[in-house]
Amino acid sequence: MVGVASSSPAPTPARLRAESLTVGYDGVTVIDGLNVKIHTGQVTTIVGPNGCGKSTLLRTLSRLLNPKAGQVILDGRDIATLKPKKVARTLGILPQNPTAPEGLTVAELISRGRHPHQSWYRQASSGDDAAVVRAMRMTATDSLANRRVDSLSGGQRQRVWIALTLAQETDLLLLDEPTTYLDLAHAVDVLDLVDELRTEHGKTVVMVLHDLNLAARYSDSLIVMRSGQIVAEGSPEEVLNPTLLREAFGLGSQIVQDPISGTPMVVPIGRRGRRS
Ligand SMILES: Nc1ncnc2c1ncn2[C@@H]1O[C@H](COP(=O)(O)OP(=O)(O)O)[C@@H](O)[C@H]1O
Ligand SMILES: [Mg+2]
Repeated sequence: MVGVASSSPAPTPARLRAESLTVGYDGVTVIDGLNVKIHTGQVTTIVGPNGCGKSTLLRTLSRLLNPKAGQVILDGRDIATLKPKKVARTLGILPQNPTAPEGLTVAELISRGRHPHQSWYRQASSGDDAAVVRAMRMTATDSLANRRVDSLSGGQRQRVWIALTLAQETDLLLLDEPTTYLDLAHAVDVLDLVDELRTEHGKTVVMVLHDLNLAARYSDSLIVMRSGQIVAEGSPEEVLNPTLLREAFGLGSQIVQDPISGTPMVVPIGRRGRRS
């Protein structure tokens, strides 16, 4: 029928995407001509073997790295042309191995997340303090506020870095291995927090995880990378299958259903434990 609009809702345009992205270090190209669109308001997880370029992609999407060719588009504009503060008010990144200046306390470090919102004419305000307190509560780091960052355990430090990223209060969050150093209970806490950020605060999250089963449970979409390329993209149900896992990771596996969430669960096949 002419003139009748389709009943399916229009997809939300991607606020963050990359076009023909080529990135590398010195003479070595790591990512070559990659295209990706990040679904707005969803949790997307990048998985792939060590060294395949996950961190390189995340760093380029956040402008920590400049591409050799192609571009990253944030809200319709080439990210390279935007003012750093404008980018930092829209997009926050937790790098894989962040380092804090020596001697800083937890509260001081997390407060740095507010810098993009401040300037010489707009000093720290009660709004900034409130954002820092909220970020500390969400990550259960409030009891560590006066500790020196360099005196913390790996897991405590990881939660403090997540708090810094949250204090920035950006719509888009890029988290590179946010569960590293965390025991399973704290890892699940962080992923529950990611879930809450999406469902209750409408955030768009892109993260890198190694645990495929947690990735399947907590992600709307997965991006599977190998050797700097995207080899599969889609919902965990669409993406996770033994053929893909063999292709991407060189891993034999069976897929079963996660008894808690119903999402796909990868059971690796190694040399040990096969019932004859
Ligand atoms: N700063 C760097 N200088 C030179 N090579 C690097 C640098 N960072 C990463 N690489 C190389 O780029 C490739 C991709 O690395 P990375 O993006 O960190 O992988 P992943 O996060 O998937 O483990 C690897 O071969 C790695 O050795
Ligand atoms: Mg990495």
